[in-house]
Amino acid sequence: MSRNTYRSSPARLQPVFKTALGQAFAGDSLELLPRLVPPHSVDLIMTSPPYGLIRNKDYGHARCVPADQYVEWFRPFARLFKRLLKPTGSLVIDIGGSWVPGMPTRSLYHYELLVTLVRHEGFYLAQEFYWWNPSKLPTPAEWVTVRRIRVKDAVNCIWWLSSTPWPKASNRRVLQPYSSSMEDLLKKGYEARRRPSGHDISGNFIRNNRRSIPANLLAIANTESNSRYLRYCRLRGLPIHPSRFPSALPEFFIRMLTNRGDLVLDPFAGSCVTGEVSERMGRRWICVDVVAQYVEGARGRFLPTQRPKGKRPIYYRIPHADSLRGEEKDEDLLPDDGGRFAKEQRGRARVD
Ligand SMILES: C[S@@+](CC[C@H](N)C(=O)[O-])C[C@H]1O[C@@H](n2cnc3c(N)ncnc32)[C@H](O)[C@@H]1O
Repeated sequence: MSRNTYRSSPARLQPVFKTALGQAFAGDSLELLPRLVPPHSVDLIMTSPPYGLIRNKDYGHARCVPADQYVEWFRPFARLFKRLLKPTGSLVIDIGGSWVPGMPTRSLYHYELLVTLVRHEGFYLAQEFYWWNPSKLPTPAEWVTVRRIRVKDAVNCIWWLSSTPWPKASNRRVLQPYSSSMEDLLKKGYEARRRPSGHDISGNFIRNNRRSIPANLLAIANTESNSRYLRYCRLRGLPIHPSRFPSALPEFFIRMLTNRGDLVLDPFAGSCVTGEVSERMGRRWICVDVVAQYVEGARGRFLPTQRPKGKRPIYYRIPHADSLRGEEKDEDLLPDDGGRFAKEQRGRARVD
């Protein structure tokens, strides 16, 4: 495939394809979204923008965003996103770090982006997350495998931002099974006492709630096979997107931050993983990518597949995470006030 095939496409207001719940567009998000999406209509923007790169990577505009110009490049998108989000909505940005060219030191561009979004673009930092990808390769080779003076860079930052301090959210949607040590503790019982940290661990701590609240470190190996998508692209000679995120990543945030029927937007959609997960989870979605062939390839994610009878697909593979599969009927509606008046929210109607 020649480099020319990856050229940006002119914005088209017609979707490249549609599904029951979503639409995928080709074009520059800055140009398309103001014409496609009404203000204050989006519940979640879940996205992985091009990273600030020291070398050119072969996907779309990413080639044009050196780390030292990144923040200025992003700011018009930030303003647009702010305008499109509902006051209860969230913007979740998955962003990888970068090295300073020719030096074993790190760029600060993704932290600068965060500071700018909060200090100058009116976003709130709801929480920072870290995505640890244990299957990351040891790069850059010069520092990691040749001189052996740095370690693998295997963690992406995930900035969860919001338009107000109270985006709708519930960690009840993303609970995890207990660790084996917690299971042991529950079996053996716990003697209430003061910890070395000074915290008083009372008998309540040991109550069996069946699940634990996850931490802001998401361990997800990016080893998903995506065979349906890959096969589709190969058969049609379409480029396979080189930096797809694993579906468990958007799934975590879509679960935690949206209700069924809500609108999820991915303005740097690549192969439309966000769209695929949203569709499966009953959320409406819009995906846009500036490289038309990536969007063409993404169509392969939505073709009907034949599943062996009786087998449920396995989704949400964050280790130790609980998909709440089969319990979705019991999902509480997310509080529109972001939990601000949590006490009054008790006893609200349930979803479905
Ligand atoms: C890191 S990739 C996203 C990959 C995606 N999360 C996936 O799993 O397939 C970033 C994408 O942003 C796209 N992009 C860059 N500038 C854009 C723009 N102005 N409008 C729309 N898409 C853009 C690139 O073509 C690239 O596919």
